[in-house]
Amino acid sequence: MRHSTLRQLEVFESIARLGSFTRAAEELFLTQPTVSMQIKKLTDEVGLPLFDQIGKKIYLTEAGRKLYQTCHSVFEHFEHFEMAVADMKGLKAGKLKLAVVTTAKYFAPRLLGMFCKQYPGIDVSLKVTNREHALERLINNQDDLYILGQPPKEIDTVSEAFLDNPLVVLAPVDHPLVNKKKISLKRIAEEPFLLREQGSGTRIATERIFSKHELKLNIRMELGSNEAIKQAVISGLGLSILSRHTLALDTPFGQLAVLDVVGFPIERHWHYAYLSDKKLSVVAEAFLGYLKQAPKYLTDSSGINTKVKYNRTALPRG
Ligand code: PGA
Repeated sequence: MRHSTLRQLEVFESIARLGSFTRAAEELFLTQPTVSMQIKKLTDEVGLPLFDQIGKKIYLTEAGRKLYQTCHSVFEHFEHFEMAVADMKGLKAGKLKLAVVTTAKYFAPRLLGMFCKQYPGIDVSLKVTNREHALERLINNQDDLYILGQPPKEIDTVSEAFLDNPLVVLAPVDHPLVNKKKISLKRIAEEPFLLREQGSGTRIATERIFSKHELKLNIRMELGSNEAIKQAVISGLGLSILSRHTLALDTPFGQLAVLDVVGFPIERHWHYAYLSDKKLSVVAEAFLGYLKQAPKYLTDSSGINTKVKYNRTALPRG
């Protein structure tokens, strides 16, 4: 095993976690032949097969499972080493790996920008994905910090609310409900509705609101991004519920309206989260400090009232 490289272990870990050579190649920005070659070399070193292929699916062999566990402890030791070095250098160098749900992309890059200006030596990566994938990454301890609309209940984490995340009902400006006051949710349920994809936190929140009122959504279409939803609302395909933060960027001015629906805006909050047994690096700690002050740093750039106020709610952890 002494000739196997860290890169080979990284490739192996990614395939084992994602259950696919193709997805691992995408994640690591490698070509498929490179991935296959690295695994062939690693398999030769181990002297036993690491994967079984049955049909299109791949499974870890016994040796593969043992190696997967070993990879995790090797990577963890390296991470601790990197952290120790970064600590020694203070905040002059180091890495920050942040993963945020899609709706947080409307403000997270701004905070990162300010952070990078203050600490130019820090290497930052930002993964933007939906809630389901962000939680997958959290369980696999792939990033330093996560930003989510709702703290994960099923995973033991440290999490806290740091910013308002109001949900609003959107309609095209020429919709008959636009100037109506106190519209009932029942009336909204009669309209064709546009919903985010399965695995989206916005979708979970929306479905929860309707089922709480025992109303059935009249789903016209599912769309995979907030941008696609906004465009579809503008073109009259239906109404939707999104975070008011989604109005902060790329919204063609004056084409979307926020409806006055009873009980709205729904007050939600952005939360940061990380695994409870994780020791945060100095860099991650410093960024957490920025997050906690987010309401002070963020100003509305949309022309629509996206007022955010500091609201630190004590929340159950985990
Ligand atoms: P989403 O998450 O981007 O997965 O919809 C947003 C949220 O959880 O509020």
